[in-house]
This record gives sequence, C-alpha cells and structure tokens, in this order.
Amino acid sequence: MKITIFGSGYVGLVTGACFAEVGNDVLCVDIDEEKIRRLQQGEIPIYEPGLEEMVIENSREGRLRFTSDIAEGVAFGLFQFIAVGTPPDEDGSADLRHVLSVAESIGRYMEDYRIVIDKSTVPVGTADLVQQKISSVLAERGMTYDFDVVSNPEFLKEGDAIGDFMKPDRIVVGVDNPRTKELLRTLYAPFNRSHDRFLAMDVRSAELTKYAANSMLATKISFMNEIANIAERVGADVEAVRQGIGSDSRIGFSFIYPGMGYGGSCFPKDVQALERTSRQFGYDARILQAVEAVNHDQKSSLVDKMKQHFNGELKGKTIAVWGLSFKPNTDDMREAPSRRLMEALWDEGASVRAYDPVAMDEARRIYGDREDFELVEHPDHALKGADALAVVTEWMVFRSPDFEMMKKELNEPVVFDGRNVYNPDMMEQLGFSYYSIGRLP
Ligand code: UGA
Repeated sequence: MKITIFGSGYVGLVTGACFAEVGNDVLCVDIDEEKIRRLQQGEIPIYEPGLEEMVIENSREGRLRFTSDIAEGVAFGLFQFIAVGTPPDEDGSADLRHVLSVAESIGRYMEDYRIVIDKSTVPVGTADLVQQKISSVLAERGMTYDFDVVSNPEFLKEGDAIGDFMKPDRIVVGVDNPRTKELLRTLYAPFNRSHDRFLAMDVRSAELTKYAANSMLATKISFMNEIANIAERVGADVEAVRQGIGSDSRIGFSFIYPGMGYGGSCFPKDVQALERTSRQFGYDARILQAVEAVNHDQKSSLVDKMKQHFNGELKGKTIAVWGLSFKPNTDDMREAPSRRLMEALWDEGASVRAYDPVAMDEARRIYGDREDFELVEHPDHALKGADALAVVTEWMVFRSPDFEMMKKELNEPVVFDGRNVYNPDMMEQLGFSYYSIGRLP
C-alpha cells in the first residue's frame, strides 16, 4: 500500500520505517530540508535502538523515501499520516499549528480520495478541526473530493519504539466510515497476527484513549512517589510496599517504581493538555492537577536531600551526575529530572560533572559551555574530587560500579540515588552515606 507520513520526527520515522519493513511503499515528508537531506543519506537525527538499520535497509530496497516536497507527499499515499509535533502552548494545551498546516496542504493538493490519519497526540476534537480545514480549502478550490479523517494514536515508548510498533498491545483506530475501518484493518494486519488487537471505536474516544493511557501511567508514578514520600516520613520502605501492592494483579508491578518523577516529551505534556481540555469543557480535573504537582516537586527531591546532608550549603560543591536523559536508552532530555536537579545545583552555586552513555551531545546543545558544567567521557571520571554522586538515570552501566574505587575518588563517600539502583544495606556496609527514594536508610 502507498503511505505518506508528514513529520519525520520520532513518531513519523518509526511509523514510516515499520510500515516499509512489512512491504509497504512509504514516503516521509518533512519541511526541514536539512533533516530530509540527512535522512536521504541514512543519517538518523534521533537515537532509537534498531531504527537506523531499519531506515537504511528499507531505503536501499526503495520502500522508504524522504522528501520535503509536500505536494508530492499528498499525491503519493492513499493513507496520509499526520505525525508532526504538538508542543505545549503557553497555557499547557497542545499547539495544533503544525497539524492544521498539514491538513491545509492536504486540502490544497489532493486530487483523489484520501484517508487522513492523526497519529500525533492531539486533543479531543482535533479530527473535526482537520476535517473542517480540509473541507474549507477544498471549497476554496471549488473541489469536492471525498476523504476520511481517522484518529490512530501511537503508544510507542522511546527506547523500545520498534518493538512497540511491530508487536503492539493494541491498535486503536477511531473511525466513523466502515469501509475505511476495513482498509485500516488491512493496513495493520501484519502487526495484528497472534490475536486480534485491532480496537475500532468512534473518533473522539480514540483521541481520549491516548490521553487517558498516558495520564493513568503518570498517575501510577506520582501516586507511588507520594507513597515513597510518606514512607520516608513514617519509617517504612517503599520497596517493600511496592512488592506488597504490585503482587495484587489488579494493581500490577509496572509503572510503580518511585524515582525522580516522570519526564520526557509525553507524560508531562499530555497530563497538562488533558487537564486544559477538561477545563475548556467546564470540568475541574483534580486528580490530573495533583499528578502534575507531585511530579513537579518530586524532581527536586534529591536536591532537598543534598541540602539536608550538606547543612544547606551547596555553594562551591561539585556533584557528579550519572545519567542525563529522562530515562535509559534514549538521548532525550526533554523534561528530564536531571535538568531540574542540575539547574537547582547551579542556582545554589554548585558545579556539576556529568556522564551519560548517549545524551551528552544533547546536554551540550542545551547547556553549552557553562563554567560550572563539565561532561566527562567515562562514569568514573565524574567522581574524582566530587563531593557526592547523584544517580539520576538508571542506565545499566551504572548498576554495578566499583564501589571501592568510588569511595576513593569521591571527596566524601556520599551517594544520592534518585532511582533506587543500589541496595541500602550494602551501601551502609561499604561505608557510604546513602540517600535513595522512600527506602529505609
Ligand atoms: C510514554 C508511554 O509509555 C508510551 O506508551 C506512549 O506512547 C508515549 O509516552 C507517548 O505518548 O508517545 P515514554 O515517554 O517514551 O512513553 O516513556 P516511558 O517509558 O513511559 O517513561 C516515562 C517516564 O516515567 C520516565 O521519566 C520514567 O523514568 C518514568 N517512570 C516510569 C517512573 O518514574 N516510574 C515507573 O515505574 C515507570
């Protein structure tokens, strides 16, 4: 089948590569000509395991192509995916400028029936806006081509996006036209083999499903962070509590790890956007507000512990930071807890010496050459002469360090573990002052 994908960012690229992988002809469109030029040469602008190989292989086979020619994109695919960014507006609601600009282009250039598919995370009601935009541009042109607008949210996790696309838990499709529904079922058939995961529903429910899923996961995390904060105060161990509640299958073990709060490009933005949408519709979404507030404070929890340890005096201290990305297996630092931590440390007059397996270029791009920020090429190099270590992202490579060496290198054996990576008893026996999240010291 012929597929056009507007937006060659994270979602667009993964979607395009995976559709090409199962034999479709895919054309990816982006207005960023430099990005397209690099993609044509097999250079992938983001870090996602398996994506580069998939893009290169399918480009070589001619199934995956890249262009900045929007008219060519509209002419190409029966399926027109909109996978452009929806950054938060000043008030937290999703900015639909890019989505509606693609809709306008589709209206301007279409010469035949098209299925327009919202893949970007967009507020409830956006499919209607896309529909209206295309209709109004067609009316200006004096044309009456038929088209359908479908909501097909993505549920990809950064770092595991290829797996999530190829073997999805569910394929949510909001579609009103029964014939279009069957075309989408066929399009997704290669990813829907072992048992039926295709969930067709009305358009608005599909749009809300995406926000509800991310908000529910964010709620689990904030809830667990709150329990961790309570545990610290009442003298309980959140790790024991986690096991105690996770074993109830109604609760489950996933997304109940306390830490430094959720980050990334999705949870913070989507919780806020759903809260704003609710407000626009006259509903005060109190749980969502609380989820956000708890998360905001949680990102500072390690700094609070540092202040306590150093008697409020962080000025002149050097803190070694392990992990900068918002989670392992990505170079994404959007809304990363590391940012709040480092910015707070800088405000207090401390310096940071940091290491991350893949996000160092991104850190350099964001923070440039600050005098109080040094990036080192090996985790151990961050420790020498530092006053404490902060573990901020739970990359595998930080799990089993040489603790004796760590003790020698640090000015004082102090570890602030924002991801509960190490065993508190072991750290105590080794002679560390060890602070983690919600566990007994
Ligand atoms: C999330 C969802 O998991 C995807 O299903 C969704 O498609 C995607 O957003 C999206 O909307 O595009 P992602 O942002 O890549 O995916 O990251 P997650 O792996 O879900 O982690 C989000 C954050 O939660 C991270 O900061 C992580 O450290 C934190 N987290 C996760 C916890 O603090 N505790 C946990 O138990 C789990």
